[in-house]
Amino acid sequence: MKPLVVANWKMHKTPADAVRFVHELLALRPDPEQADAVICPPFVALSAVGDALGDVPIGLGAQQMHWADSGAFTGQISPPMLVACRVRWVIIGHSECRAYSGETDASVNRKVGAALAHGLTPIIAVGETLEEHAAGAAHDRVVAQIRAAFAGYTPAEVARSVVAYEPIWAIGTGKVDTPPGADATMGAIRAAVDGLQSVRILYGGSVKPDNIAAFVRQQHIGGALVGGASLEPVSFAALIGNAGKGVAA
Ligand code: 13P
Repeated sequence: MKPLVVANWKMHKTPADAVRFVHELLALRPDPEQADAVICPPFVALSAVGDALGDVPIGLGAQQMHWADSGAFTGQISPPMLVACRVRWVIIGHSECRAYSGETDASVNRKVGAALAHGLTPIIAVGETLEEHAAGAAHDRVVAQIRAAFAGYTPAEVARSVVAYEPIWAIGTGKVDTPPGADATMGAIRAAVDGLQSVRILYGGSVKPDNIAAFVRQQHIGGALVGGASLEPVSFAALIGNAGKGVAA
């Protein structure tokens, strides 16, 4: 399957910055044959990025959402609001949301159902801490997270999702998991839930243009969820091109 490269901009870029990025990226003519690409800007830049992308085959994603359609949830954004902004993808359960915004396995589970019900593709993020990694508990940790995320959903619903494995110790640190190490953890994730057998599982954590192909070359790795290296158009275009090289090799 074609790899998927998802840009998670986190809390970076105003709407004007985001539009400038899209124009510069499109001028570089990233090849849609190499990889599917999705950009997840901050909420306030979603509409501007959607307009700037127009009919270009690059997806628009959100970094987070609430599970309810509407209600007294100050500061939250609902699935129908995202759909109205032409969003088709949503990251759910990022470790930064789990650490700083009260995201739990239970809220992730509700949001997965809400995303699927509204035709959004959930990109469900799981990952272990450095302590868990050092203790040899990475597989148990991510398997527990992914089972909780999908509890109660049918294999057909699970199959409409994307999973991102992001070891927390590799995020923004310049430290990466080894491609075979990440692949083994993803194999455990894939085997943990019925329906995951054919979904794309992304690696995340200090992915750069010069290491993405080595990850995508692995059996279970279907692309990457990228933070820092997705913020510059030249770098993001190189990620898309090099992800395709990983598949061809
Ligand atoms: P970095 O690519 O900056 O390590 O961030 C990874 C990440 O958290 C993407 O969601």
